[in-house]
Amino acid sequence: MTDLLTKLAYQTMQQGKGYVGLAHKAISTQLFNWVVPPSEAQKLALKTITPDLLQQIQSRMAALLEEDWQDVERGIYPSEILFDNPWDSFLKVYPWVWLDSPRTWVRSRDSRTKEFSPDIETEGYPRYYLRNFHHQTDGYLSDGSAQIYDLQVELLFNGTADAMRRRILAPLRSGLQRFDLPQRQLRGLDIACGTGRTLKMLRGCFAQAKLFGVDLSGAYLRKANELLSQEPNELPQLVEANAEALPYQDNYFHGTSCVFLFHELPGPVRQRVIQEAFRVTQPGGTFVICDSIQAIDMGDLRPIMENFQATFHEPFYCDYIQDNLEARLAKAGFETVEVFSYFMSKYWVARKPV
Ligand SMILES: C[S@@+](CC[C@H](N)C(=O)[O-])C[C@H]1O[C@@H](n2cnc3c(N)ncnc32)[C@H](O)[C@@H]1O
Repeated sequence: MTDLLTKLAYQTMQQGKGYVGLAHKAISTQLFNWVVPPSEAQKLALKTITPDLLQQIQSRMAALLEEDWQDVERGIYPSEILFDNPWDSFLKVYPWVWLDSPRTWVRSRDSRTKEFSPDIETEGYPRYYLRNFHHQTDGYLSDGSAQIYDLQVELLFNGTADAMRRRILAPLRSGLQRFDLPQRQLRGLDIACGTGRTLKMLRGCFAQAKLFGVDLSGAYLRKANELLSQEPNELPQLVEANAEALPYQDNYFHGTSCVFLFHELPGPVRQRVIQEAFRVTQPGGTFVICDSIQAIDMGDLRPIMENFQATFHEPFYCDYIQDNLEARLAKAGFETVEVFSYFMSKYWVARKPV
Protein backbone atom coordinates (compact mmCIF):
# COMPACT_ATOMS: atom_id res chain seq x y z
CA MET A 1 0.00 0.00 0.00
CA THR A 2 2.79 2.40 1.00
CA ASP A 3 4.63 1.46 -2.18
CA LEU A 4 1.55 2.11 -4.26
CA LEU A 5 1.09 5.52 -2.66
CA THR A 6 4.76 6.38 -3.14
CA LYS A 7 4.58 5.35 -6.79
CA LEU A 8 1.45 7.42 -7.27
CA ALA A 9 3.10 10.41 -5.61
CA TYR A 10 6.12 9.99 -7.89
CA GLN A 11 3.98 9.74 -11.02
CA THR A 12 1.92 12.77 -10.00
CA MET A 13 5.03 14.83 -9.29
CA GLN A 14 6.56 13.87 -12.64
CA GLN A 15 3.33 14.72 -14.43
CA GLY A 16 3.38 18.14 -12.75
CA LYS A 17 6.99 18.70 -13.83
CA GLY A 18 6.06 17.66 -17.36
CA TYR A 19 3.28 20.27 -17.51
CA VAL A 20 5.58 22.97 -16.11
CA GLY A 21 8.21 22.11 -18.76
CA LEU A 22 5.66 22.16 -21.58
CA ALA A 23 4.07 25.42 -20.40
CA HIS A 24 7.47 27.09 -20.05
CA LYS A 25 8.52 26.03 -23.54
CA ALA A 26 5.21 27.14 -25.09
CA ILE A 27 5.39 30.59 -23.48
CA SER A 28 9.06 31.15 -24.17
CA THR A 29 8.67 30.10 -27.83
CA GLN A 30 5.82 32.62 -28.24
CA LEU A 31 7.85 35.37 -26.59
CA PHE A 32 10.98 34.47 -28.56
CA ASN A 33 9.06 34.72 -31.84
CA TRP A 34 7.64 38.04 -30.74
CA VAL A 35 10.92 39.58 -29.55
CA VAL A 36 13.10 38.20 -32.35
CA PRO A 37 10.77 37.15 -35.19
CA PRO A 38 12.34 34.21 -37.08
CA SER A 39 13.10 34.52 -40.78
CA GLU A 40 11.11 32.42 -43.28
CA ALA A 41 14.13 30.11 -43.65
CA GLN A 42 14.31 29.62 -39.88
CA LYS A 43 10.59 28.87 -39.73
CA LEU A 44 10.95 26.30 -42.49
CA ALA A 45 13.91 24.69 -40.72
CA LEU A 46 11.74 23.86 -37.71
CA LYS A 47 9.87 20.56 -37.92
CA THR A 48 6.22 20.30 -36.91
CA ILE A 49 5.48 18.28 -33.79
CA THR A 50 2.40 16.24 -34.65
CA PRO A 51 -0.05 14.79 -32.06
CA ASP A 52 1.27 11.32 -32.98
CA LEU A 53 4.77 12.42 -32.12
CA LEU A 54 3.61 13.88 -28.81
CA GLN A 55 2.07 10.50 -28.08
CA GLN A 56 5.41 8.81 -28.82
CA ILE A 57 7.20 11.19 -26.47
CA GLN A 58 4.65 10.49 -23.74
CA SER A 59 5.09 6.75 -24.02
CA ARG A 60 8.92 6.93 -24.06
CA MET A 61 8.74 9.17 -21.02
CA ALA A 62 6.39 6.76 -19.27
CA ALA A 63 8.79 3.87 -19.99
CA LEU A 64 11.67 5.85 -18.46
CA LEU A 65 9.69 6.67 -15.33
CA GLU A 66 8.49 3.09 -14.95
CA GLU A 67 12.09 1.85 -15.14
CA ASP A 68 13.09 4.49 -12.59
CA TRP A 69 10.43 3.14 -10.24
CA GLN A 70 11.42 -0.47 -10.96
CA ASP A 71 14.99 0.31 -9.89
CA VAL A 72 13.62 1.44 -6.52
CA GLU A 73 11.67 -1.83 -6.23
CA ARG A 74 14.82 -3.78 -7.13
CA GLY A 75 16.63 -1.99 -4.30
CA ILE A 76 19.11 -0.21 -6.60
CA TYR A 77 18.34 3.12 -4.90
CA PRO A 78 16.01 4.34 -2.16
CA SER A 79 12.68 5.94 -3.15
CA GLU A 80 13.76 9.25 -1.54
CA ILE A 81 16.12 9.75 -4.48
CA LEU A 82 13.09 10.05 -6.76
CA PHE A 83 11.80 13.00 -4.78
CA ASP A 84 15.08 14.86 -4.63
CA ASN A 85 13.96 17.88 -6.56
CA PRO A 86 15.30 21.24 -5.55
CA TRP A 87 12.03 22.94 -6.50
CA ASP A 88 12.40 25.53 -3.75
CA SER A 89 15.73 26.63 -5.20
CA PHE A 90 14.27 26.25 -8.71
CA LEU A 91 11.48 28.68 -7.77
CA LYS A 92 14.08 31.14 -6.53
CA VAL A 93 16.07 31.02 -9.76
CA TYR A 94 13.10 30.81 -12.16
CA PRO A 95 12.87 34.62 -12.48
CA TRP A 96 16.57 34.60 -13.47
CA VAL A 97 15.79 32.24 -16.32
CA TRP A 98 13.33 34.80 -17.67
CA LEU A 99 15.61 37.75 -16.97
CA ASP A 100 18.39 36.06 -18.91
CA SER A 101 16.15 34.90 -21.78
CA PRO A 102 16.10 38.11 -23.90
CA ARG A 103 19.91 38.11 -23.98
CA THR A 104 19.99 34.49 -25.11
CA TRP A 105 17.32 35.15 -27.77
CA VAL A 106 19.23 38.11 -29.23
CA ARG A 107 22.50 36.14 -29.23
CA SER A 108 20.71 33.29 -30.93
CA ARG A 109 19.20 35.61 -33.59
CA ASP A 110 22.59 37.21 -34.28
CA SER A 111 24.39 33.85 -34.23
CA ARG A 112 26.80 35.14 -31.61
CA THR A 113 28.09 31.98 -30.00
CA LYS A 114 31.44 32.89 -28.45
CA GLU A 115 30.53 35.79 -26.19
CA PHE A 116 31.73 36.14 -22.60
CA SER A 117 31.43 38.95 -20.04
CA PRO A 118 34.63 41.03 -19.87
CA ASP A 119 35.34 39.93 -16.28
CA ILE A 120 35.50 36.25 -17.28
CA GLU A 121 38.97 34.79 -17.69
CA THR A 122 38.90 32.68 -20.85
CA GLU A 123 42.65 32.04 -21.01
CA GLY A 124 43.72 28.40 -20.87
CA TYR A 125 40.42 26.73 -21.86
CA PRO A 126 40.21 24.61 -25.02
CA ARG A 127 38.73 26.46 -28.02
CA TYR A 128 35.81 24.04 -28.40
CA TYR A 129 34.76 24.87 -24.83
CA LEU A 130 34.67 28.66 -25.20
CA ARG A 131 31.17 28.81 -26.58
CA ASN A 132 27.68 29.74 -25.47
CA PHE A 133 26.38 26.18 -25.49
CA HIS A 134 22.54 26.31 -25.62
CA HIS A 135 23.08 30.11 -26.08
CA GLN A 136 23.82 30.21 -22.34
CA THR A 137 25.09 33.56 -21.12
CA ASP A 138 28.83 33.15 -20.38
CA GLY A 139 28.73 29.51 -21.52
CA TYR A 140 29.80 27.39 -18.55
CA LEU A 141 32.01 30.08 -17.09
CA SER A 142 29.93 32.13 -14.64
CA ASP A 143 28.13 31.63 -11.35
CA GLY A 144 24.98 33.01 -13.00
CA SER A 145 25.10 30.27 -15.63
CA ALA A 146 25.69 27.62 -12.93
CA GLN A 147 22.73 28.90 -10.88
CA ILE A 148 20.16 28.42 -13.64
CA TYR A 149 21.65 25.41 -15.45
CA ASP A 150 19.83 22.61 -13.57
CA LEU A 151 16.45 24.27 -13.91
CA GLN A 152 17.01 24.91 -17.61
CA VAL A 153 17.85 21.24 -18.19
CA GLU A 154 14.77 20.15 -16.22
CA LEU A 155 12.57 22.48 -18.28
CA LEU A 156 14.12 21.24 -21.52
CA PHE A 157 13.44 17.58 -20.66
CA ASN A 158 10.03 18.16 -19.05
CA GLY A 159 11.36 17.21 -15.63
CA THR A 160 13.03 13.94 -16.61
CA ALA A 161 16.73 14.96 -16.57
CA ASP A 162 17.40 13.29 -13.22
CA ALA A 163 15.45 10.17 -14.19
CA MET A 164 17.68 9.90 -17.28
CA ARG A 165 20.83 10.40 -15.17
CA ARG A 166 19.66 7.67 -12.75
CA ARG A 167 19.80 5.03 -15.52
CA ILE A 168 23.57 4.86 -14.94
CA LEU A 169 23.17 3.71 -11.33
CA ALA A 170 22.11 0.09 -11.89
CA PRO A 171 24.99 -0.78 -14.27
CA LEU A 172 27.47 1.02 -12.02
CA ARG A 173 26.19 -0.86 -8.97
CA SER A 174 26.52 -4.24 -10.65
CA GLY A 175 29.97 -3.22 -11.96
CA LEU A 176 31.13 -2.27 -8.45
CA GLN A 177 29.74 -5.48 -6.95
CA ARG A 178 32.20 -7.44 -9.09
CA PHE A 179 35.03 -6.23 -6.83
CA ASP A 180 33.51 -7.77 -3.71
CA LEU A 181 35.03 -5.03 -1.52
CA PRO A 182 33.55 -3.08 1.41
CA GLN A 183 31.93 0.08 0.02
CA ARG A 184 34.38 2.40 1.78
CA GLN A 185 37.20 0.90 -0.30
CA LEU A 186 35.46 1.67 -3.59
CA ARG A 187 36.34 4.76 -5.61
CA GLY A 188 34.06 6.35 -8.23
CA LEU A 189 34.67 9.27 -10.57
CA ASP A 190 32.09 11.40 -12.40
CA ILE A 191 33.73 13.06 -15.41
CA ALA A 192 32.29 16.51 -16.32
CA CYS A 193 30.25 16.44 -13.13
CA GLY A 194 28.90 19.98 -13.68
CA THR A 195 26.68 21.11 -10.80
CA GLY A 196 26.92 17.71 -9.09
CA ARG A 197 23.48 16.18 -9.74
CA THR A 198 24.96 12.79 -10.70
CA LEU A 199 27.39 12.82 -7.77
CA LYS A 200 24.49 13.49 -5.43
CA MET A 201 22.70 10.43 -6.81
CA LEU A 202 25.87 8.36 -6.53
CA ARG A 203 26.19 9.44 -2.90
CA GLY A 204 22.53 8.45 -2.28
CA CYS A 205 23.31 5.03 -3.73
CA PHE A 206 26.83 4.45 -2.35
CA ALA A 207 26.89 6.15 1.06
CA GLN A 208 30.40 5.01 2.02
CA ALA A 209 32.25 5.00 -1.30
CA LYS A 210 34.96 7.56 -2.09
CA LEU A 211 33.54 9.84 -4.76
CA PHE A 212 35.34 12.24 -7.07
CA GLY A 213 34.14 14.77 -9.62
CA VAL A 214 36.03 16.64 -12.31
CA ASP A 215 34.89 19.53 -14.51
CA LEU A 216 36.45 22.41 -16.45
CA SER A 217 34.15 24.99 -14.91
CA GLY A 218 35.10 26.42 -11.53
CA ALA A 219 31.68 28.08 -11.33
CA TYR A 220 29.85 24.78 -11.87
CA LEU A 221 32.08 23.09 -9.30
CA ARG A 222 31.27 25.81 -6.75
CA LYS A 223 27.59 25.05 -7.33
CA ALA A 224 28.30 21.31 -7.00
CA ASN A 225 30.12 21.91 -3.74
CA GLU A 226 27.12 23.86 -2.43
CA LEU A 227 24.78 20.97 -3.30
CA LEU A 228 27.00 18.13 -2.10
CA SER A 229 28.08 19.70 1.17
CA GLN A 230 24.45 19.49 2.36
CA GLU A 231 24.71 15.71 2.18
CA PRO A 232 25.71 13.49 5.07
CA ASN A 233 28.77 11.26 4.59
CA GLU A 234 32.07 12.22 3.04
CA LEU A 235 32.11 15.15 0.63
CA PRO A 236 33.09 14.08 -2.90
CA GLN A 237 36.44 15.52 -3.95
CA LEU A 238 35.95 18.04 -6.73
CA VAL A 239 38.75 19.05 -9.07
CA GLU A 240 38.82 21.65 -11.82
CA ALA A 241 40.52 19.94 -14.75
CA ASN A 242 40.20 18.94 -18.38
CA ALA A 243 38.74 15.47 -18.95
CA GLU A 244 41.32 15.06 -21.73
CA ALA A 245 44.05 14.90 -19.07
CA LEU A 246 42.50 13.57 -15.88
CA PRO A 247 44.54 14.43 -12.78
CA TYR A 248 44.47 10.88 -11.36
CA GLN A 249 46.85 7.96 -11.39
CA ASP A 250 46.34 4.92 -13.62
CA ASN A 251 43.84 2.21 -12.57
CA TYR A 252 42.53 4.28 -9.64
CA PHE A 253 38.73 4.04 -9.95
CA HIS A 254 36.46 1.02 -9.65
CA GLY A 255 33.69 2.87 -11.49
CA THR A 256 33.63 5.91 -13.78
CA SER A 257 30.69 7.82 -15.24
CA CYS A 258 30.18 10.64 -17.71
CA VAL A 259 26.77 12.26 -18.20
CA PHE A 260 25.73 14.63 -21.04
CA LEU A 261 29.30 15.56 -22.04
CA PHE A 262 30.06 13.77 -25.31
CA HIS A 263 27.58 15.65 -27.52
CA GLU A 264 29.45 18.85 -26.59
CA LEU A 265 32.88 17.62 -27.69
CA PRO A 266 34.54 17.36 -31.11
CA GLY A 267 35.14 13.73 -32.21
CA PRO A 268 38.90 13.55 -31.49
CA VAL A 269 38.31 15.01 -28.00
CA ARG A 270 35.64 12.36 -27.35
CA GLN A 271 38.30 9.76 -28.12
CA ARG A 272 40.85 11.37 -25.78
CA VAL A 273 38.32 11.53 -22.92
CA ILE A 274 37.42 7.85 -23.42
CA GLN A 275 41.12 6.99 -23.38
CA GLU A 276 41.58 8.91 -20.16
CA ALA A 277 38.57 7.15 -18.64
CA PHE A 278 40.21 3.86 -19.62
CA ARG A 279 43.55 4.85 -18.11
CA VAL A 280 42.10 5.81 -14.69
CA THR A 281 39.66 2.88 -14.47
CA GLN A 282 40.87 -0.30 -12.73
CA PRO A 283 41.01 -3.55 -14.72
CA GLY A 284 37.58 -5.09 -14.20
CA GLY A 285 36.13 -1.61 -13.56
CA THR A 286 33.08 -0.16 -15.29
CA PHE A 287 32.70 3.04 -17.30
CA VAL A 288 29.12 4.23 -17.97
CA ILE A 289 28.29 6.98 -20.47
CA CYS A 290 24.91 8.72 -20.62
CA ASP A 291 24.23 11.13 -23.46
CA SER A 292 21.71 12.05 -26.13
CA ILE A 293 20.19 9.38 -28.35
CA GLN A 294 21.93 9.20 -31.72
CA ALA A 295 20.65 9.30 -35.31
CA ILE A 296 20.29 5.51 -35.38
CA ASP A 297 17.99 5.54 -32.32
CA MET A 298 15.83 8.52 -33.20
CA GLY A 299 13.10 6.88 -35.25
CA ASP A 300 9.97 9.00 -34.93
CA LEU A 301 11.74 11.40 -32.53
CA ARG A 302 13.92 12.73 -35.35
CA PRO A 303 11.92 16.01 -35.81
CA ILE A 304 12.33 16.82 -32.11
CA MET A 305 16.05 16.15 -32.16
CA GLU A 306 16.41 18.22 -35.35
CA ASN A 307 14.55 21.10 -33.70
CA PHE A 308 16.88 20.81 -30.70
CA GLN A 309 19.87 21.14 -33.00
CA ALA A 310 18.32 24.07 -34.90
CA THR A 311 17.26 25.97 -31.76
CA PHE A 312 20.14 25.41 -29.35
CA HIS A 313 23.77 26.16 -29.98
CA GLU A 314 25.19 22.63 -30.07
CA PRO A 315 28.04 22.82 -32.59
CA PHE A 316 29.20 19.19 -32.19
CA TYR A 317 25.79 17.53 -31.91
CA CYS A 318 25.53 16.71 -35.62
CA ASP A 319 28.88 14.90 -35.50
CA TYR A 320 28.03 13.22 -32.18
CA ILE A 321 24.77 11.65 -33.37
CA GLN A 322 26.65 9.89 -36.19
CA ASP A 323 29.59 8.84 -34.02
CA ASN A 324 30.34 5.21 -33.26
CA LEU A 325 31.10 5.27 -29.54
CA GLU A 326 31.38 1.47 -29.36
CA ALA A 327 34.29 1.71 -31.83
CA ARG A 328 35.86 4.51 -29.78
CA LEU A 329 35.50 2.48 -26.57
CA ALA A 330 37.08 -0.55 -28.24
CA LYS A 331 39.93 1.59 -29.62
CA ALA A 332 40.70 2.71 -26.05
CA GLY A 333 40.69 -0.91 -24.84
CA PHE A 334 37.21 -1.17 -23.28
CA GLU A 335 34.78 -4.03 -23.89
CA THR A 336 31.27 -2.70 -24.43
CA VAL A 337 28.96 -4.71 -22.21
CA GLU A 338 25.65 -3.08 -23.03
CA VAL A 339 24.14 -0.23 -25.05
CA PHE A 340 20.58 0.88 -24.36
CA SER A 341 18.37 3.90 -24.62
CA TYR A 342 15.60 5.57 -22.61
CA PHE A 343 13.47 8.53 -23.67
CA MET A 344 15.99 10.99 -25.18
CA SER A 345 19.15 9.48 -23.77
CA LYS A 346 21.48 6.64 -24.65
CA TYR A 347 23.85 4.63 -22.44
CA TRP A 348 27.05 2.71 -23.00
CA VAL A 349 28.25 0.34 -20.28
CA ALA A 350 31.90 -0.55 -20.83
CA ARG A 351 34.37 -2.68 -18.90
CA LYS A 352 38.15 -2.53 -18.73
CA PRO A 353 39.40 -6.07 -19.26
CA VAL A 354 41.21 -7.71 -16.36
C1 LIG B 1 25.95 19.53 -20.52
S1 LIG B 1 26.93 19.75 -19.11
C2 LIG B 1 26.68 18.25 -18.22
C3 LIG B 1 26.97 18.42 -16.76
C4 LIG B 1 26.56 17.26 -15.86
N1 LIG B 1 27.28 16.04 -16.15
C5 LIG B 1 25.07 17.02 -15.91
O1 LIG B 1 24.64 15.87 -15.95
O2 LIG B 1 24.32 18.00 -15.84
C6 LIG B 1 28.55 19.57 -19.72
C7 LIG B 1 29.60 19.76 -18.64
O3 LIG B 1 30.84 19.34 -19.17
C8 LIG B 1 31.86 20.22 -18.74
N2 LIG B 1 32.95 20.07 -19.72
C9 LIG B 1 32.92 20.33 -21.04
N3 LIG B 1 34.08 20.01 -21.62
C10 LIG B 1 34.87 19.52 -20.63
C11 LIG B 1 36.20 19.01 -20.58
N4 LIG B 1 36.96 18.93 -21.67
N5 LIG B 1 36.69 18.61 -19.40
C12 LIG B 1 35.95 18.68 -18.26
N6 LIG B 1 34.69 19.15 -18.25
C13 LIG B 1 34.16 19.56 -19.42
C14 LIG B 1 31.17 21.57 -18.70
O4 LIG B 1 31.88 22.50 -17.90
C15 LIG B 1 29.80 21.20 -18.16
O5 LIG B 1 29.79 21.24 -16.77
